[in-house]
Amino acid sequence: MCGIVGFTGGRQAAPVLIDGLKRLEYRGYDSAGIAVADGGKIGVAKVKGYVKNLAELTHDGADIPGTMGVGHTRWATHGVPNDINAHPHLSCDGRFAVVHNGIIENYAQLREELTRQGYEFVSETDTEVIAHLLESVYAGDAKKAVMKAFSRLKGSYAIGILCTDGSGRIFAVREAGPLIIGLGVGENYFASDVSALVQHTKNVIYMEDGQFAELTPEDVTIFDSFGRPVERKVSRVTWDVEAAEKGGYEHFMLKEIMEQPATFKATVEPRVVDGEVVFENFSLTDEELHGINHIVITACGSAGYAGQVGRYVIEELCRMPVSVELASELRYRNPIIGEHTLLIVISQSGETADTIAAMRECKLRGARTLAIVNVVGSTISKLADNVIYTWAGPEIAVATTKGYTTQVAVLDMLAIYLAKRLGTIDGARYSHLVEELLGMPAKIQRALDLNKNIEELAESLSYHNDIYFIGRNLDYAVCLEGALKLKEISYIFAEAYAAGELKHGTIALVEEDSLVVAIACYEPLFEKTMSNIEEVKARGAKVLAVALEDNKKIFTKADEYLMVPRCEPIFTPIAEIIPLQLFAYYVARANGCDIDKPKNLAKSVTVE
Ligand code: BG6
Repeated sequence: MCGIVGFTGGRQAAPVLIDGLKRLEYRGYDSAGIAVADGGKIGVAKVKGYVKNLAELTHDGADIPGTMGVGHTRWATHGVPNDINAHPHLSCDGRFAVVHNGIIENYAQLREELTRQGYEFVSETDTEVIAHLLESVYAGDAKKAVMKAFSRLKGSYAIGILCTDGSGRIFAVREAGPLIIGLGVGENYFASDVSALVQHTKNVIYMEDGQFAELTPEDVTIFDSFGRPVERKVSRVTWDVEAAEKGGYEHFMLKEIMEQPATFKATVEPRVVDGEVVFENFSLTDEELHGINHIVITACGSAGYAGQVGRYVIEELCRMPVSVELASELRYRNPIIGEHTLLIVISQSGETADTIAAMRECKLRGARTLAIVNVVGSTISKLADNVIYTWAGPEIAVATTKGYTTQVAVLDMLAIYLAKRLGTIDGARYSHLVEELLGMPAKIQRALDLNKNIEELAESLSYHNDIYFIGRNLDYAVCLEGALKLKEISYIFAEAYAAGELKHGTIALVEEDSLVVAIACYEPLFEKTMSNIEEVKARGAKVLAVALEDNKKIFTKADEYLMVPRCEPIFTPIAEIIPLQLFAYYVARANGCDIDKPKNLAKSVTVE
């Protein structure tokens, strides 16, 4: 996820662009840049790091004159963060400058075609193809060039285009990526969201997929992909700036919970091509893969709990032994790991000290390493033999939500991919699983919508001081994450137990009004979990069940319940965790906790 801005008017563009980018930094902040047209040439400034680096480099934009321009703050997906890969990207003739949020799925094909035509690429990004494509189709009319280039692009994107054809026009193109037009007086703007516009104007147009816009200081015209003007639907923004950065939500955590259908889609869809799971960076040969006799997953915190889900799925599909090891333990255990081990390292930040150390120990012993990380160019991504990015965009809340579900998404894709290569699932099951995985964003959305009473339910249960999470198999793996979510933001003691373990000690703690969260979605062991529910109820516990929405039986036994949409069984954890994220959020909110920045916690623990 990145942030883009555009401006055309009568005053200097650069300061307006830089100020807008500062308000979009929560969308991405590993590099930033602006391009401003001054007469017949485009001035460009771009730099690795935060927008403040760009402001310092350009003296708050004073060094880059001109009254129309585009700007970008980046969250890398293709190409590590550096000055070259930072946007804007220019065409060879310097006539076009482009900023982009999203993914151009057919960039490799376009890059090859344009290179053959003699266009020289300087960056590793997918975005640069847009600048050269515009030059290749330009024949004196910038609007026509935008239309032609737009028709060649595949993927999800929001694009800003600056052209020095002297018309004072900038262009904005939207295809499945947020893009809003701001209507000013003698000036007009575009941006990835209202937070970059709202200090200038509250009159906005939310562009729709398949549209492009032409902006001059006096006017804005919206076109469909055939170049036909479409009706402008002007809306009035009621948010203030701070609320806008959170998308109108009270906390980043709630915004990021709600983003999960979109982030899951962004992680999975670009990696399913003609029904096949494809990874852009996975170099194990068939021989090497068949030489792997053990998979070790290592991580910390929620990343490790995503690994617990992945363990069940990989073992089920690949029939390969998988263990999940706490990185802080693995690093000191003189691990029995060698060249026949595939080490999967999971980390949102890619900078967690214990995880890095464990990875180094295992590499020393010859393990093949695969990283699942969110931050492009992070330490762990550079250390790994192969890396699969989660493409979740920046996660601001300390307690991860979309980071976790996109990690599980990658692990599920990996399990399907490996099982096919190992021959442990047949073609029919492979195709079915791929289809089901593509359908999970809709299931996540349903899981978000199903439990209308969750806020008051959480408030009514927020007085508890200790809460037990129980489940079996995949449900147990989800219990681990559910308990951690509650602990870390509401400060209530919560612990996850394999339901079968209760009678071996923990049940001694269960008493009148103890709250037990029983996850009972894993159907092969449903009756066993029901027995555990009976056990704790017999001791006076109150049971909050998490169950499939069509499971009428559990609702007769549970005191309260959270519903989960029916999914392909091995993907159910992705939907199960959603109501538990919301439950933790609303309990913490009822207790007046600092949800985005919980006490004592850090987003990434880069020290031991
Ligand atoms: C904790 C975070 O500090 O570190 C967790 O609060 C995270 O959300 C854990 O799972 C590991 O961090 P990372 O960046 O390696 O996933």
